[in-house]
Amino acid sequence: MLDIQKIRAEFPILSQTVNGKPLVYFDNGATSQKPQIVIDAIAKYYQEINANIHRGVHTLSQLATDAYEISRGKVQHHINAKFAHEVLFTSGTTHGINLVTNGFASILKPGDEVIVSSLEHHSNIVPWQMLCEKTGAVLRVIPMNEDGELIMKAYEALLSEKTKVVTVNHISNALGIINPIKYMIEKAHAVGAAVLIDGAQAVPHLKPDVQDLDCDFYAFSGHKMCGPTGTGILYGKEAWLNKLPPYQGGGEMIKEVTFEKTTYADLPHKFEAGTPNIAGGIVLGTAIDYLNSVGFENIQKQEEELLAHATKSLLEIEGLKIYGTGKNKASVVSFNIDGIHPYDIGSIIDKLGIAVRTGHHCAQPIMNFFCIPGTIRASFSFYNTKEEIDLMVEAVKKAKTMLS
Ligand code: ALA
Repeated sequence: MLDIQKIRAEFPILSQTVNGKPLVYFDNGATSQKPQIVIDAIAKYYQEINANIHRGVHTLSQLATDAYEISRGKVQHHINAKFAHEVLFTSGTTHGINLVTNGFASILKPGDEVIVSSLEHHSNIVPWQMLCEKTGAVLRVIPMNEDGELIMKAYEALLSEKTKVVTVNHISNALGIINPIKYMIEKAHAVGAAVLIDGAQAVPHLKPDVQDLDCDFYAFSGHKMCGPTGTGILYGKEAWLNKLPPYQGGGEMIKEVTFEKTTYADLPHKFEAGTPNIAGGIVLGTAIDYLNSVGFENIQKQEEELLAHATKSLLEIEGLKIYGTGKNKASVVSFNIDGIHPYDIGSIIDKLGIAVRTGHHCAQPIMNFFCIPGTIRASFSFYNTKEEIDLMVEAVKKAKTMLS
């Protein structure tokens, strides 16, 4: 059992008041809060070892390089990648996905097909659309049902020898649905397609095992898993990363440069041009250590209880509808109240100290499917409590009365 009060004390922001009320932070899907150990690690880096990495022979540069590479190793271990050089530091999930779509521009031919799902965040739709426009490849979309689950029969029917890439999120940001990615990866591989998993919403809740999943790429962000903003990881299988061309040209990604020809560095440096977010990359390792010290089993148990409590309590409000009613869900509740705009509820409950996200959640196709402008999304983390959920439910009731 987690000692939630002890954990909450580790997150300084959680004891704040907002609009004169104790903060109830339920926007974890957008970004998680940071524990003191992560905040301190950022300061410690700049106070003690700040220097550029992979460049200098001087002591600080070596210390910073070692810390950065130790962090890469932590990520490798955390996601069970076979090699550390399969772990690329990025600025976030969007960067990772764009790195891959840019690479596929030199691989796809007109008439090839890319399959995305109807549950994707815009960041896992738009780069693929841009790639299709560039190459003449065709974008296919896996449909979903009323519960917000992808329809596997329809997915299988879309797969063919034309399919070159399948991309799907591990967990939907807007609805919290957990997709059957292991099954989907196996099916995609059976037709020879590569698979990218958008793991942005999964890594705060679970520990992905990229070798067990057998995905070709797995992209995620650090800031949703207690790490700093502007950090992320792209895992890619060695063979794919060797095959793809570099994303950006610049310092650090080269072996040799002449005006006639440049040769590229080995992995992972081929994809890490320029001075990276060194402090961020190092502290992402601290965040991963922190989450592992809490324990993903404990995190999941706490979040399952929060999800069950929120679902039950919210459904007691007349006229309230939850979107994303599939069985396999992470701790996200997306809802609306009959006849009331989600923005109005969000604004009123903010005045009561409750932070939720309202709108289309960068997933407009999902909103179009349900014929709604958006939802109110409460996304819970292990540091949230049932008492906070009760405060949100009371606030939503109040807002409903004011707006009805
Ligand atoms: N992708 C983030 C969210 O779902 C920002 O809120």
